[in-house]
Amino acid sequence: MPSIKGFSKLSKEAKIEWIVANYIGNDAESIDFLKSYWNNDSNVQKLHDEFIENTISNFYLPFGIAPNFLIDGKMYCIPMAIEESSVVAAAAKSANFWLERGGFHTQIIDVQKVGHVHFIWEGKSSEKLFAFFNSIKDKFYSHTEHITKNMQLRGGGILDIQLVDKTALEPGYYQIHATFDTCDSMGANFINSVLEEFAKILKSEIEKTDLLTEEEKQVQVVMCILSNYTPNCLVRAEVRAPLESLADGNEMSGLEFAEKFCRAVRIAEIEPYRATTHNKGIMNGVDSVVIATGNDFRAVEASAHTYASRSGQYRSLTHAEIKDGEFIFRLDIPLALGTVGGLTGLHPMVKFALKLLGNPNANELMKVAAVVGLAQNFSALRSLVTSGIQKGHMKMHLLNILNQLEATDSEKVQIVEYFKDKIVSYSSTVEIFCKIRGIEVPAVSGIKNKEGH
Ligand code: MEV
Repeated sequence: MPSIKGFSKLSKEAKIEWIVANYIGNDAESIDFLKSYWNNDSNVQKLHDEFIENTISNFYLPFGIAPNFLIDGKMYCIPMAIEESSVVAAAAKSANFWLERGGFHTQIIDVQKVGHVHFIWEGKSSEKLFAFFNSIKDKFYSHTEHITKNMQLRGGGILDIQLVDKTALEPGYYQIHATFDTCDSMGANFINSVLEEFAKILKSEIEKTDLLTEEEKQVQVVMCILSNYTPNCLVRAEVRAPLESLADGNEMSGLEFAEKFCRAVRIAEIEPYRATTHNKGIMNGVDSVVIATGNDFRAVEASAHTYASRSGQYRSLTHAEIKDGEFIFRLDIPLALGTVGGLTGLHPMVKFALKLLGNPNANELMKVAAVVGLAQNFSALRSLVTSGIQKGHMKMHLLNILNQLEATDSEKVQIVEYFKDKIVSYSSTVEIFCKIRGIEVPAVSGIKNKEGH
């Protein structure tokens, strides 16, 4: 296959033609297919084209709604962008369950973001470096005011700046560890700009100081970058209910259910294999809100998993207990989110999602995303410790299997009805599908679709 120089300079059409000619085989259908996903409104399409480099088409994700979320006494319809079939249903089910039990309660624990100038200084006495740092510390604030002025007017800015000695880990390694309040923006650009200015200040001030010898003035700035680990940008979501109110139609009493539920959470607290899946379920909920509201789900994921490992072992992000006849279930999660800047004012679906949430500030969005994570985890564990996960999951997945089989609408209706009181599996779906269509069940899985693939 050929390589190409200057791909980004080609027009969108030329890019499509080139990839199709060289990597697919001059297939007009592929060209039409990619174009069929372009937005009819050329302005909307242009907006999407310009989000990233080398856009050739759009990639759809379902945009679903989980209604009936009562959070701190306020009702929400929550937008979720996700492809996994059972996630929105699970969130909605949990929302209904807790709506009847006082809803979800939240608390912003702190909103600090973090950034570092990582540098190497090979002088012998770290005390001398600390003395120099303290002598110029004010300048890190005053000489960055051209960047921080607006953020300060909004109530944020630089919170603290510390010099950290990391030489026990790596010879000569020091950090300027800075914390920030970036108000309603996620703040990555703001933080990185301030950090790069810090590096310039460090280098120019070290030249001028008489606290260090000429030899001690050698400093190498390795990099300036925010940290996506934000353990102090933390939100708590919680539900609580009297034990007797938890029975809700399953075979267990409220107490038995709560005890089994707490045991399942405990397993995720002590067993990393389970903790990973447990937290993945939480992130099903969190990410879908984060994506729908135009936030950076990779940053959120990275931070959540580092936080889950903060004890030195990867553990559950949620915790459950029974206390004074009450079941208490909570999630603490770092969420560095924004409701201004980035995609939030650009992507039409993101703008709609934020409008649907009542145009929240960043703290409110943190609360909503955390609640959906907790709700998701509650639904998953509730299924796991009662009916098992596959019953609900496969029911939601049934339509995907039927679409894969290219079932007609009437076949879908019949098959969904058939599975009303049965557990769905891929092979049983294929079997009933073949029976209805009057064709032979294939010996090995895989039914040919209309095109014979
Ligand atoms: C599936 O996406 C998520 C679950 O596996 C989470 C869990 O096991 O807790 C259902």
